[in-house]
Amino acid sequence: MTTATTTPAGKAPADELVFDVRGITLRFGGVTSLNDVSLQMRRGEILAVIGPNGAGKTSLFNSLTGVYTPQEGEVLVAARSGDEPVSVLGKKTHVVNHLGVARTFQNIRLFSALTALENVKVGIETRQKSGPISAMLGLPWQRREEKDSTAKAYQLLDRVGLAGRANELAGSLAYGEQRRLEIARALGTGPGVILLDEPAAGTNPVEKRELAALIQQINADGVAVLLIEHDMKLVMSVAHRILVLNFGQRIAEGTPEQIQRDPAVVAAYLGTSEEDAETELATHDQPELQRIDLSGDPLHEASTTEQSEGSGATAAGEKGGPA
Ligand SMILES: Nc1ncnc2c1ncn2[C@@H]1O[C@H](COP(=O)(O)OP(=O)(O)OP(=O)(O)O)[C@@H](O)[C@H]1O
Ligand SMILES: [Mg+2]
Repeated sequence: MTTATTTPAGKAPADELVFDVRGITLRFGGVTSLNDVSLQMRRGEILAVIGPNGAGKTSLFNSLTGVYTPQEGEVLVAARSGDEPVSVLGKKTHVVNHLGVARTFQNIRLFSALTALENVKVGIETRQKSGPISAMLGLPWQRREEKDSTAKAYQLLDRVGLAGRANELAGSLAYGEQRRLEIARALGTGPGVILLDEPAAGTNPVEKRELAALIQQINADGVAVLLIEHDMKLVMSVAHRILVLNFGQRIAEGTPEQIQRDPAVVAAYLGTSEEDAETELATHDQPELQRIDLSGDPLHEASTTEQSEGSGATAAGEKGGPA
């Protein structure tokens, strides 16, 4: 990992790494969910992680955020420009979040009984110095921070297109709105890198286009984006690079153009042999993967959202808090 320097244009050099993942293996009993997976994520990039169901994508996110500690390998992070790389392994999720790593969850985790604004403020306040005592005493800097966090939360809601929904309860928002609210909350923690686990699942085509623009905007603002997504059109339109997992193994890495035409990737998605995949690729002009729609099932996703309702799951869920 290179040390942080800035170019004259004020942009971080392209070879600076945000994540340097070296050969991680993660096992659960007899199941190997990640098998010797390496990945180098550069500052400033949108890197997508794709692969069929059960490929190990969420396990990878969990290994990068302190939820799981792989039995083998190393995960180094230097989330914000200028940070020295440090190991994630063995660190708690909130510590990794403080290092500048934010995430959203495959199964949305919001405080359903709080408003959209309050949910975002929860994210922002993880970085503030005021504790419960100063809040109770209403100390001046606490009041200032409270005002600042409210203003910032409004800004973030505006950025994700939810300015008009600030005072609605999170649980009453439409599914796609909840996904965007989770992104706003994650951004509230001031990350250098954000990990989005299937942000387009259960959203409609208009929302998907808005999401693509939002991801590009977040990236343009200097936040690296690691994106798990089944919607190939979205992935192909926003990702600079794509990493493909299958059965816990890294089977390909490359630009969207390279990945679309990679027989191993097409075979993994179609469940065919590589030979058949090559024939498929030879007989179609259209890039193969764009024709595969693996978007999440909205009904299934909605039911998992309900499970977390009222549980305050973001703060103490088994997969870690909001980050
Ligand atoms: N906590 C756990 N205990 C046992 N097995 C697990 C655990 N977490 C993940 N696994 C297993 O690891 C494998 C990879 O799961 P993971 O959730 O990472 O896949 P995924 O690529 O995110 O799939 P999907 O697209 O369905 O979300 C699966 O076989 C899964 O059952
Ligand atoms: Mg997953």
